[in-house]
Amino acid sequence: MDGMANDISAVVEADRVHVWHHLSQHKQYETVDPRVIVEGKGMRVWDAKGKEHLDAVSGAVWTVNVGYGRESIANAVRDQLLRMNYFAGAAGTVPGAIFAKRLIEKMPGMSRVYYNNSGSEANEKVYKMVRQISHRHHGGKKNKILFRERDYHGTTIANLAAGGQFQRNMQYGPFPDGFVMVPHCLEYRAQWDGADYGLRAANAIEEVILREGADTIGCLVLEPVTAGGGVIVPPAGYWERVQEICQKYDILLHIDEVVCGVGRTGTWFGYQHYGVRPDFVTMAKGVASGYAAIACTVTTEAVFDMFKDDPSDPMSYFRDISTFGGCTGGPAAAIENMRIIEDEGLLDNTLRMGDRLMANLHGLMDKHKVIGDVRGKGLFCGAELVADRGTKEPADEKKVQAVVADCMAQGVIIGATNRSVPGFNNTLCLSPALIATPDDIDQITDAIDAALGRVFA
Ligand SMILES: Cc1ncc(COP(=O)(O)O)c(C=O)c1O
Repeated sequence: MDGMANDISAVVEADRVHVWHHLSQHKQYETVDPRVIVEGKGMRVWDAKGKEHLDAVSGAVWTVNVGYGRESIANAVRDQLLRMNYFAGAAGTVPGAIFAKRLIEKMPGMSRVYYNNSGSEANEKVYKMVRQISHRHHGGKKNKILFRERDYHGTTIANLAAGGQFQRNMQYGPFPDGFVMVPHCLEYRAQWDGADYGLRAANAIEEVILREGADTIGCLVLEPVTAGGGVIVPPAGYWERVQEICQKYDILLHIDEVVCGVGRTGTWFGYQHYGVRPDFVTMAKGVASGYAAIACTVTTEAVFDMFKDDPSDPMSYFRDISTFGGCTGGPAAAIENMRIIEDEGLLDNTLRMGDRLMANLHGLMDKHKVIGDVRGKGLFCGAELVADRGTKEPADEKKVQAVVADCMAQGVIIGATNRSVPGFNNTLCLSPALIATPDDIDQITDAIDAALGRVFA
C-alpha cells in the first residue's frame, strides 16, 4: 500500500481536504477531524485515534453480516482476482455461475440471477424489466410501479421516485412518472381503527390499485421489513393478503431484500418468514458482507421467459449493461460469505441473539418512558423514542442523535433513522453482525441504557 497509509495523521488530513463523505454536512470538519476507520476484527472496529468500538450496525449501513477481518473471504477474492478479475456480463465467469446456483438453492421458486453492484442498481433493473414487460406484453399498459410510504429503495432518481421517505427525496426532484405510493403498515402509528391491522393495511394497497386501475399497474415493490423508515415489521396477515392482491390483479411482486437478504432476519431472506412467492428479489449489502461490491436482481423463470420469447425481434431481450456486474470479486466473496453463514450456524445465532436483543430492549422500555415502541426481526431491531407515551409525540431529533453520540463516546456504534421521514427521525436502529454473542448484545443495550439515562435525565 502507499507509504502514506502508515502516517495516520496525514491520512486524516487527506480525508479532510479531499474526501466528500456520504450523508455528511462537511462544515464540522473545519474544526473536528473526520472519522477514519482503520481496522476491523469480528464485531469491533478501531478508528484513527486507536479507539475501539463495538459495531452494532455492521459498518453503519447494515452490511458486514459475517463480521470484519475474515481471512477466508479475502483469500477467496485474492485467488479469484489473480485468476480472472473481470469480464463483462455477456459472458459467464466461474464464481458468477457457482454463486448463482448456490443462491437459487436458497430461494425456491426463483431461478435467474442478474449481477450488478449496488442495491440501487439492482432495483433499477426491476423497474426497467417491468417497463419492458409492459411494452412487449401489455401494449404499454401495466407500467406503473407501486411503492410504500416509509420504504427506501436507493439513491438514484428513479429509486427516489419509488421512495417513501420524503426527506430523502427533498431537493432532488423533479422525478420520473409512473411511481405511485401506497400507505405504510406501521401499527404503532395506525392510520385506521379496528382489529386485523395487517389485513387493513394490505387492503389499503388494493384501494390504490382500484383507484389507479389494475391495468395500469405492473409491479409492487416492498421491503420485507422496512429498515431506514423506522424498522417496521409488518403486522400479522399483511404479507399473505399482499400476495393475494398481487395475484388477483396480475401485479408482479418485487421484494427489496437489500437490507434483510442473506441472513439479517434469521432466514436467508426476509420474505421467507411469511411464505411469500415473489417475482423479483433484489439484494446487495449482506451478499458479500462488504468484502466486495455485489448486488443481484433475481427473477422467476416466468419473468425470464418474457425476455427470450421472440429471438427474431432484435429489441426483445433485456438490453441492460452493468459494467461492474462483471467483477468476479463479488461472487467469489459471496460464495465464501454464504459458506461461513452455513458452517457457523449464523442463521440460528441471528434468531437467538435477535430474541435476546428484543428482550433487552423490552427491559429498557420498562425502565425508560422515552421508549414508545420496540420492533424487530432477527438482528434488525429498532426502538422508537417518544416525548410522551400517551400522545406518541416523537422525541426531539437532536436528543435521538445525542443518544447515538453518547453510545459512540462509550465505544458502541448504533444508528438512528436520519433525514428519512420528516418529523419521525426518532427510531434507534440496531443491526449487529450475525456473529454477535450474548455479551455483545448486552454491551449494546447497556450502552443505550446509560445514554438514555443521561440524555433524557
Ligand atoms: C432497503 C434498501 N434498498 C436499497 C438500498 C440501496 O442500496 P445501495 O446503497 O447499495 O444502492 C438501501 C440502502 O440503504 C436499502 O436500505
